[in-house]
Amino acid sequence: MLTIEQALRRHPLPRLESRMLLQHVLPGLSHAQIIAYPERELSAEAEAAFLGLAERRLAGEPMAYLIGVREFYGRDFRVSPAVLIPRPETEHLIDAALQRVGRAAARAVDLGTGSGAIAATLALEAPAWTVEAVDLSADALAMAEANAAALGAAVAFRHGSWYAPLADDARYDLIASNPPYIQHDDAHLGQGDVRFEPRMALTDEADGLACLREIAAGAPARLKAGGWLMVEHGYDQGAAVRELFSAAGLSRVETIRDLAGLDRITIAQKEA
Ligand SMILES: C[S@@+](CC[C@H](N)C(=O)[O-])C[C@H]1O[C@@H](n2cnc3c(N)ncnc32)[C@H](O)[C@@H]1O
Repeated sequence: MLTIEQALRRHPLPRLESRMLLQHVLPGLSHAQIIAYPERELSAEAEAAFLGLAERRLAGEPMAYLIGVREFYGRDFRVSPAVLIPRPETEHLIDAALQRVGRAAARAVDLGTGSGAIAATLALEAPAWTVEAVDLSADALAMAEANAAALGAAVAFRHGSWYAPLADDARYDLIASNPPYIQHDDAHLGQGDVRFEPRMALTDEADGLACLREIAAGAPARLKAGGWLMVEHGYDQGAAVRELFSAAGLSRVETIRDLAGLDRITIAQKEA
């Protein structure tokens, strides 16, 4: 049987990743205990589970799928290959929404909710809001519902394409979305973590702007006067998305950059 130290040396993975995998197979132990007790022996089951996970990690599977969780806005969200792994850039969308809409009673919808990261975070950060979330993937929606329940977030989930499952007369203070925006033939689809993520979460199978076009065009009819549309997009799509928002008749169009200084979130308001 391997000790913790022997298990850690068994693979050329970064120590932090190895320890996270060990912690996952030894749920009673904290990260600090794994460091403090290198001589502790693993059970046969824990050893086999760890070695299996380490092999998968070496083959490129994302850490988040292997341990089944990723932190977003300070909370843990369960993830599986049915959902996109929430990205830190998307936290800018949360900040923009809370800043522009405020925390008083408001109605919001998250289009393409995936793990539910945006919808559940908004519901928890602004408990006076009424939050809905939509996804075309039933598997993603099940994961989002489980996350919202585990976190105690009040979110109403709707299955369908963008605006289609929403009530005809529903009007929103905020429409938020991080839609698929990668062009169908982008080389990034074959690299790194995204190789393991659901293709329908990543690409519109077109020029990268197809979903953003549909969401922008449908927003004015769904927004209250003074309501906001906020979307995440690719670093090179800022100008195109600003054009889509202006063409839809929205005003105060603005692109927010991420921490790397890249265009990431574009927001606009329906005239009051
Ligand atoms: C980039 S992921 C975003 C997931 C999550 N909101 C986040 O930021 O981590 C896009 C999501 O849109 C969903 N989606 C794709 N096409 C859709 C459509 N036509 N209508 C609704 N959701 C769609 C995918 O299933 C996926 O969950």
